[in-house]
Amino acid sequence: MNVVLVLDLLLLVVAAGLWVAAWPLRDARAGTPLLMAAVLATVGRAAVVVALGRAGWWFLPDRLVTAVPLTLLAVVAGIAVTRRRKPAVPVLIAAAYLAVAGLAVQLLVGYPVTAGGLVAVLGPGAAALLAWRLQARAARIAVVAAAAVALLAAGVTAAAGSRLPDRLHHHAEHGVSVADLRGPARPPTRTFTLTARAAVVTLPSGTTVDAWTFNGLLPGPELRVTQGDVVEVVLRNELPDTGVTLHWHGYDVPAGEDGVAGVTQDAVPPGGTFTYRFVAEDAGTYWYHSHELSSTAVRKGLYGTLVVDPAGTRPAETDLVLPVHRFDGGVTVLGGSDRRETRDVPAGRPVRLRLINTDNNAHRVAVSGTSYTVGAIDGRDLNGPASLTAETTLRLPAGGRYDVLFTMPAGAVHVMVDGRESEGLLLGAGAAPAHPDGTELDITRYGTPARGPFGRYDKDYTLVLDRLIRFLDGVPGYAYTVNGDVYPDIAPLLVDEGDAVRTTVVNRGTDSHPMHLHGHHVLVLSRNGRAVSGSPLWLDTFDVLPGEVWQVAFRADNPGIWLDHCHNLPHARQGMVLHVAYRGVTSPFAVGRRTPNHPE
Ligand code: C2O
Ligand code: CU
Repeated sequence: MNVVLVLDLLLLVVAAGLWVAAWPLRDARAGTPLLMAAVLATVGRAAVVVALGRAGWWFLPDRLVTAVPLTLLAVVAGIAVTRRRKPAVPVLIAAAYLAVAGLAVQLLVGYPVTAGGLVAVLGPGAAALLAWRLQARAARIAVVAAAAVALLAAGVTAAAGSRLPDRLHHHAEHGVSVADLRGPARPPTRTFTLTARAAVVTLPSGTTVDAWTFNGLLPGPELRVTQGDVVEVVLRNELPDTGVTLHWHGYDVPAGEDGVAGVTQDAVPPGGTFTYRFVAEDAGTYWYHSHELSSTAVRKGLYGTLVVDPAGTRPAETDLVLPVHRFDGGVTVLGGSDRRETRDVPAGRPVRLRLINTDNNAHRVAVSGTSYTVGAIDGRDLNGPASLTAETTLRLPAGGRYDVLFTMPAGAVHVMVDGRESEGLLLGAGAAPAHPDGTELDITRYGTPARGPFGRYDKDYTLVLDRLIRFLDGVPGYAYTVNGDVYPDIAPLLVDEGDAVRTTVVNRGTDSHPMHLHGHHVLVLSRNGRAVSGSPLWLDTFDVLPGEVWQVAFRADNPGIWLDHCHNLPHARQGMVLHVAYRGVTSPFAVGRRTPNHPE
């Protein structure tokens, strides 16, 4: 699909260039090869658009607006040229305009097609046509001037409208405040202190990282608790001039503990503290990170891991937590190490590897030397996972977690990230096993089906992800959009407590978007129209690749105001953030120029 989207964009640009180059050459003979190339590029793109349409209607309307008339003109021009005649000049001019307008529609309008967007793109053409037909010079000037003023006014209005106000409150009608939706008052059974501070950390290879850390460590401390614990975490901020929060990624805590600056709390200022408390109800693999300036903070090191062991006795295991992270400058670590680590594990010992992607991009993990299963994804056990070998690789989306389980064999086992054979983790004794070429595990077909909890849906939403030119806080940019808008203007998904909510997520762009919903796990229903045929998949982060359409559902069982965003955090910073808002829940916190809060 990515190939088709890239081809579409490529043909769009090429056709626009060729038509513009072709129309002033009124001598058909000189223009013929160019013209034929323009015709072919246009017809080729029409075929690509038809192919795109097979993925769903969301990919079509903006493209059809210009592709249909342009293709007709291309056919007219093509017929003329094959008959050795010169196409009419108006045909060439109109084609050139439509070809360029097609590019503008693609960059500015997207989905859904709005009247305003169409006027902005096609209006100048209409004005030019009018000016050309008019006889009086004054009338021509008036038309051109009016069109220019209208365009400028629209641009200025959009820029001004995108500026963040001093304080922007979320859903401030009457109701329960997120500040009152806190964890239990009873005393904690486990307490931790995490202190944010700047530190220069030396990695095992000797490379140093100029980092923001929790307790001076990269990654931050592993918080390991037992199901049922009342967990208390005191956050202290000793960073010189940045606010900090703690967000429990994938852990469905009460809204007031969710740690989003400007939504569930104010960012903790330098010198300040905040105490989080929640019951560890679910077992599994999770992580935590700051949610103030998260795109900078997480990359610089303000992250760590959270593991909740099931209550009751469990077999003696080798249980390793392995976050994959990339720092500025490109150094990648598995766990805390940027070189090969080795560890002795006796044969016959059950092993659990908790792979966590704390980076902005997906990473490919391969396990060789043993057969294994993926026992859990995003902290939720899978149903009947089948045994895999090194011929299968795992694509770990940004923010996601896979628990890999196996019994230690007699030989060594190697865990490799992104094909870097000389690094990674080597378990057991003996030579490192080789990695064959692998194919990626399709998690939607892995494991055994079981009946899902949803029968009907109370709410049905669609999120169309794209990349469009938009103003972000007054500055124009090639932003990441949802339904054509950027944060904070994306309409929230309004839900009532108890709702079964179905969401269709469509990726029209050429980047992948690991979408992360706070406070809930979603059940994946289908991908690209094909129902999940493996284990039920309860995810908090699902990677929507270019051209993909995912349908997911969740139960609105955790009242609050929750972020729903792309976990490629620079994408979030460039607009791809919205809220799931429960009716009747308000927030006293605000984002904006006169607040300490910048969640992304
Ligand atoms: Cu990992 Cu909005 O979070
Ligand atoms: Cu994204």
